[in-house]
Amino acid sequence: MIVKETFDVVTGGAGFIGSHLCRALLRRGRSVRIVDDFSTGKWENLADLQQQYPGQCEISQQDIHCLEGLRKIFDRADTVYHQAAMTSVQKSTEDPLACNRVNVEGTLKVLVAARDAGVKKMIFATSTAVYGDSEVIPKREEMKAHPISPYGVSKYVGELYCRIFSEIYHLPTLGLRYFNVFGPHQDPESEYAAVIPRFISRMLAGERPIIFGDGEQSRDFVFVEDVVWANLLAAQSEVQRISLNIAYGQRITLNQLAEILNQILGQKLEPIYQSARIGDVRHSEADISQARKLIGFKPDTSFQEGLRQTVEWFQKRALTARG
Ligand SMILES: NC(=O)c1ccc[n+]([C@@H]2O[C@H](COP(=O)([O-])OP(=O)(O)OC[C@H]3O[C@@H](n4cnc5c(N)ncnc54)[C@H](O)[C@@H]3O)[C@@H](O)[C@H]2O)c1
Repeated sequence: MIVKETFDVVTGGAGFIGSHLCRALLRRGRSVRIVDDFSTGKWENLADLQQQYPGQCEISQQDIHCLEGLRKIFDRADTVYHQAAMTSVQKSTEDPLACNRVNVEGTLKVLVAARDAGVKKMIFATSTAVYGDSEVIPKREEMKAHPISPYGVSKYVGELYCRIFSEIYHLPTLGLRYFNVFGPHQDPESEYAAVIPRFISRMLAGERPIIFGDGEQSRDFVFVEDVVWANLLAAQSEVQRISLNIAYGQRITLNQLAEILNQILGQKLEPIYQSARIGDVRHSEADISQARKLIGFKPDTSFQEGLRQTVEWFQKRALTARG
């Protein structure tokens, strides 16, 4: 058990974003309690954290559905960073009940436990998926939510619950609508893997990246350390009851992504084009002026630099795997 007086909780701390957040908090001298059921999270993401930060980090393998468990872990916590979720849009359409159980009921339990423990602030990882297929870009927070998947609905309901808990129970909450996050530790092997780790792992193996559609669809990619920074700013700020876009604020097409990766890797691998996937959003770009104004968020890592660091991590990982 952590003996320090003050500590933060990260749900989903063994996941891609959560593990980066834990490291950043620990580096800043904070103590951290991690709650994760390891459904998609990995022990390797937390490797040597406990040795590196002795007495500062505690890991509880547990489902956020267990309210009693959450109550014990949240007791006397400062900030709860709620990252745990079923994160796959595709999986949410295959099993909407499971998505609802984790992302809606689970979030509600996190809120109840945070309220009862009197935590200072709850930061909620929400998503660009709340905007759905609206063709208006850039996305602004005041736009009407129009989710088109159970995942998008679950994140939107989570945002509404956060607001309600701030209003009724005076639990300060702030939602961060992440756009397409990328960086080291993102899983390329998951059947629901995001585009950047998929491209990198194929291209490192000398295989051509696969693009669904003409490759002119675009995403607003943001480096994971910038998302971590947004969380830290959100926790320190007085802003609450709303959700803010967290992105780079620019569009990159998948063709451009393949081209930049070729430059970084010194290769010339032409993408393989396959038929477009039904339901894929064509363009995504965020207006991040609210996050800049309200919490001082400004992405610090250029897309190219973020990609370079990500490729480097994948290369090291491949070398370690080969022994
Ligand atoms: N990666 C992105 O581009 C992106 C974009 C928008 C929003 N988000 C949100 O950010 C958060 C983190 O996403 P990520 O990309 O790091 O995904 P991830 O799958 O790597 O992390 C999610 C973590 O939650 C844990 N988890 C899942 N269900 C749980 C449960 N019932 N109880 C306890 N732990 C549970 C998993 O084991 C995993 O460690 C999620 O809430 C996700 O919806 C991510």
